[in-house]
Amino acid sequence: MHYNITRLDPFGVMVEPIAQPASVQIIDIEALRALFKIHQLVLLRGFDSFATNDDLATYCEQWGDISIWPFGKVLELVQQDKPDDHIFDNNYMPMHWDGMYRPQVPEYQIFQCVSAPETGHGGRTTFSHTVLALEYASETEIALWEKITATYEREMAFYNSRTTSLIITQHPYLNHAVIRYNEPHLEEKGVFINPSNMAFSGITETESQEFHASLRASLYDPRCFYAHEWQTGDLVISDNFNLLHGREAFTSNTPRHLRRVHINANPVFENPNLESYQ
Ligand SMILES: [Fe+2]
Repeated sequence: MHYNITRLDPFGVMVEPIAQPASVQIIDIEALRALFKIHQLVLLRGFDSFATNDDLATYCEQWGDISIWPFGKVLELVQQDKPDDHIFDNNYMPMHWDGMYRPQVPEYQIFQCVSAPETGHGGRTTFSHTVLALEYASETEIALWEKITATYEREMAFYNSRTTSLIITQHPYLNHAVIRYNEPHLEEKGVFINPSNMAFSGITETESQEFHASLRASLYDPRCFYAHEWQTGDLVISDNFNLLHGREAFTSNTPRHLRRVHINANPVFENPNLESYQ
């Protein structure tokens, strides 16, 4: 072996080369996929970085079929001067899963950090392990959460969609439950450009507050929550079926630049919740 594997806390693993320079290609994709299946998040750190979007996409194609967006294979996550959507702002991003508004929901997210925020300037990508959250939840909490169906509507540059999902649902291909939740953004955290419309049915108004509070507390519980502090060159492969993710706010104009690619499951997972899509 030409690399070391260490565990991240409370989930995930980091893979580092024993000697540099080293290409990520020294690690067999199926060995990485095995780590991904066990740990849900794999960080490759200290390897040569991909110079271009095409180089990243070529590597990602070894993982499976890339989910193609209107902009192509690679999303450039960089703060924009006058964003028309929160995704391109520097605010925090509540927990959600990717592809919820798209015809196919990808299994893998692959992030490359082209340029990390300066130390102390925020911008960690946040991940919550929903299988662990369900394990730690009380019977009362589960009984409340499983009553609820959420409907989300979102219109932005890449789609105008409506999707409905139970809060607790089954993993598409494995025999266990997961949480699907787009956390409403917190007003006290400041401006949030172009929020989704959300409705949560199956509960009373009083239960609704308890629901969001209890689910938030579980998702951000340190036993289930990992916040990734980026270093330039990091490559993170994360599980979009078992995890939810978000982002911490960062200082405006700190040089935070990520690239993201979505890889479909095999077989591809057709979004069962999509009610309309344009
Ligand atoms: Fe996302």
